[in-house]
Amino acid sequence: PVTRLADYQPPAFLVPDTRLDVDLRDGETRVTAHLKLERNPARADRPDELVLDGDHLDLRSVVLDGRELAPGDDYRLEGPRLIIPGVPEAFSLTTEVRIEPEKNTALEGLYRSNGMYCTQCEAEGFRRITFFPDRPDVLSRFTTTIHADKGAYPLLLSNGNPVDAGDEADGRHFATWEDPFPKPCYLFALVAGDLACLADTFTTASGRDVALRLYAEHRDLDKLDHAMDSLKRSMAWDEKVFGREYDLDIFQIVAVSHFNMGAMENKGLNIFNTSCVLAHPATTTDAGFERVESVVAHEYFHNWSGNRVTCRDWFQLSLKEGFTVFRDQEFSSDMNSRAVVRVENVDFLVNHQFPEDQGPMAHPVRPAEYQKIDNFYTLTVYEKGAEIVRMQSQLLGAEDFRRATDLYFERFDGQAVTCDDFVACMEQVSGLDLAQFKRWYAQAGTPVLTVEDEYVDGEYRLTFEQHTPPTPGQPDKAPLMVPVKLALLDGEGRALPLDDQGRKETVVILREARETRAFPVPARPTPSLLRGFSAPVSLRYDFDERQLNTLLAHDSDGFCRWDAAQRLYFAALARVVDGGETPADQVARLTPVIEQVIARADEDPAQAALLLTLPTENAVGDRHTPLHPQRVHAAVSGLRATLGEALADAWWRLAEGLRESDYQGDGAAMGRRRLRQVALGYLAAAAGAGQVDPEPLVAHLSDTLAAPTCMTEELGALRALVHNRLPGHDAALKAFGERWKDEPLVMDQWFGVQATVPGADTVDRAEALLAHPAFEWTLPNRVRAVIATLVNANPSAFHAPDGSGYRLFARALKKLDGINPQIAARLANGGARLKRLEPGLAQQLGDALRDLRPGASANLAEVLDRILDA
Ligand code: ARG
Ligand code: ZN
Repeated sequence: PVTRLADYQPPAFLVPDTRLDVDLRDGETRVTAHLKLERNPARADRPDELVLDGDHLDLRSVVLDGRELAPGDDYRLEGPRLIIPGVPEAFSLTTEVRIEPEKNTALEGLYRSNGMYCTQCEAEGFRRITFFPDRPDVLSRFTTTIHADKGAYPLLLSNGNPVDAGDEADGRHFATWEDPFPKPCYLFALVAGDLACLADTFTTASGRDVALRLYAEHRDLDKLDHAMDSLKRSMAWDEKVFGREYDLDIFQIVAVSHFNMGAMENKGLNIFNTSCVLAHPATTTDAGFERVESVVAHEYFHNWSGNRVTCRDWFQLSLKEGFTVFRDQEFSSDMNSRAVVRVENVDFLVNHQFPEDQGPMAHPVRPAEYQKIDNFYTLTVYEKGAEIVRMQSQLLGAEDFRRATDLYFERFDGQAVTCDDFVACMEQVSGLDLAQFKRWYAQAGTPVLTVEDEYVDGEYRLTFEQHTPPTPGQPDKAPLMVPVKLALLDGEGRALPLDDQGRKETVVILREARETRAFPVPARPTPSLLRGFSAPVSLRYDFDERQLNTLLAHDSDGFCRWDAAQRLYFAALARVVDGGETPADQVARLTPVIEQVIARADEDPAQAALLLTLPTENAVGDRHTPLHPQRVHAAVSGLRATLGEALADAWWRLAEGLRESDYQGDGAAMGRRRLRQVALGYLAAAAGAGQVDPEPLVAHLSDTLAAPTCMTEELGALRALVHNRLPGHDAALKAFGERWKDEPLVMDQWFGVQATVPGADTVDRAEALLAHPAFEWTLPNRVRAVIATLVNANPSAFHAPDGSGYRLFARALKKLDGINPQIAARLANGGARLKRLEPGLAQQLGDALRDLRPGASANLAEVLDRILDA
């Protein structure tokens, strides 16, 4: 069944009030829902049939205005729906259902994770708890009472403020929570468990005290400090930057180990994947610390962008997700180095969202239709959506953008609205006409922006041509409004004045398929284009090597420097992949560039690390058609090893010079560790390829492993040994696995390192990992650690020439689909490069995936259809 944006109708009935009574008993959980319903005046056709969503519910009774209804006569169950014909204008309805959270491995609705009960309702999970109009435009005031055994579940939590609690017979107890803010049911949450708590307080700008509580398993209590610190900084930042204050007396976060996504913004009671909230230097890498900071911020920011102002329907998902990603990116930029965060965000977008936009799953930021909305929690909706908000913030400027967001929050507080409503606020405040701009929401695909230039009579002319390739269901595209920020650099790399006021940077706003702009400058310049990545487009300009070197050495824009380095690497790799050259042929051209970056590395080690990182095999592979993954692998790993050898002295100086004697948690120390890991990576590649003597490096890495200062160092050393099969790698793996066997998140890393060892034989290794006693099919983090990493981050194994990687993939999908369809469908996206593969591999992958179609869940079927039929 397909759901279409064009078919939207307001809800027939509203539910101003919801009282839930949840009686948790292992094996026989009962949910009683008391709903106050009334006809929605916005529905002119006045339907008098009430339709409620329900899924996996065992209905026991229905009472309408005090009268028990009879099945068949008074109501009927139609598929997953409860239908009551002939209802009055306004009435009360009480339903009682039985559910089985213990058997819920889909991790949607109410389920058990490691002995605690928890919920995940977005997008359509609430219907697995009780009968309800499960759609985001039905906002209700919730009061929730939870009953459970007091010994096993001393802690009972729900949304809002605690209003009552007490003991009951048989060693049981109850707690009642009241949420004063009307909310859609996807923001409902409930937790029952035996958890440790880190408590703190935050005083809001207007002087209200908010209790902050972070909960985790008792053994993880020492891993909550970073999340608490991030939360307090997020609360202060949102007040300062967006004028948004928190609105309840209490804000809680609960860490759960079994979770489909990163985290969930349930009103006043966020629920997090342990991987996005727990952090300790001994067990969490620096990247993990950054992720916790940004996800805590993201979920907290949803309190306004998502909860106070929510989505009318799920097609508008990016209204809250794109905006909130933009907000969390801005927060991270203010907390860390803005230039580094921007490059990280762009790197992620171009290497993950662009491929999505160019593959079978391509869809607009506001999709027009879906089979399962779960499949549209995508990089397009989140990351490209954030870029669309970022472009609007740039078009308006900081001041107007703030006025526009103030207007948005004020005008739509307590409402469920659309992306058009958001843009209307931008237009009203600025006076800009954004009608054409809105095509960004509706058109799928990455626009290609081709730039050509000429220098004539003291005038530098740039001609821009934009073209968005066809995507599934969208053969023809109209021109977009594309803001191109640019500067022009002279021979010394200095930015030239572009106008009478001497401005050295300008924004060209393109609207046509082809446009030319002229700049009077004294000589032919090097163009610094798309500065700050001012629009999510694929830029084509025929840079020559000298221009790229100029940009890399002198551009003041962090994105353009990184982009120049990437272009130099891509060009070198292209000469190897299909130019018949060798990695060694590239050394003379690349080493001066790299040496120059290393010479300046002190200025900003984190930025240097980004500049020195080669493109991934996926990124290189996406630039060559048809895709020969093994050829790409040979080129990338060959170049890394060759550069490792050619610059061995420089890498050693970095690795030694950046070695820390004890752990520091600040950003500068994180930057140094990042650069050190890059240097070690090059050395290890050279050692693994037999191009340098492995002995000194192995000794160095073994020293690190014997007394690591932190997990970044420990895991980095392990990965260098294992990925390059250096002497002692097996013993190191064994020791690491033994040392961390009781820390699931570290064990995820241990599995992940093994699943990403380059080479086709890793498929056998992955089979063995799936049989390891610590592997759990019902634990999404573990499944991702082994299977998703193999499929998405290890092309030389996944695309093993004998097809064994594809067969493992297909078997895993089948198994997972029976356990957790959302996870299966997400993983299936790993097959999206099918049509790009060379014919022999395409045949094998296609065969493996086609076998899965019969009996696939709706989630998985939608992704398979897209991949196989595209
Ligand atoms: N709203 C959550 C977040 O981005 C994600 C929830 C996703 N849930 C899902 N079933 N796909 O913060
Ligand atoms: Zn979100």
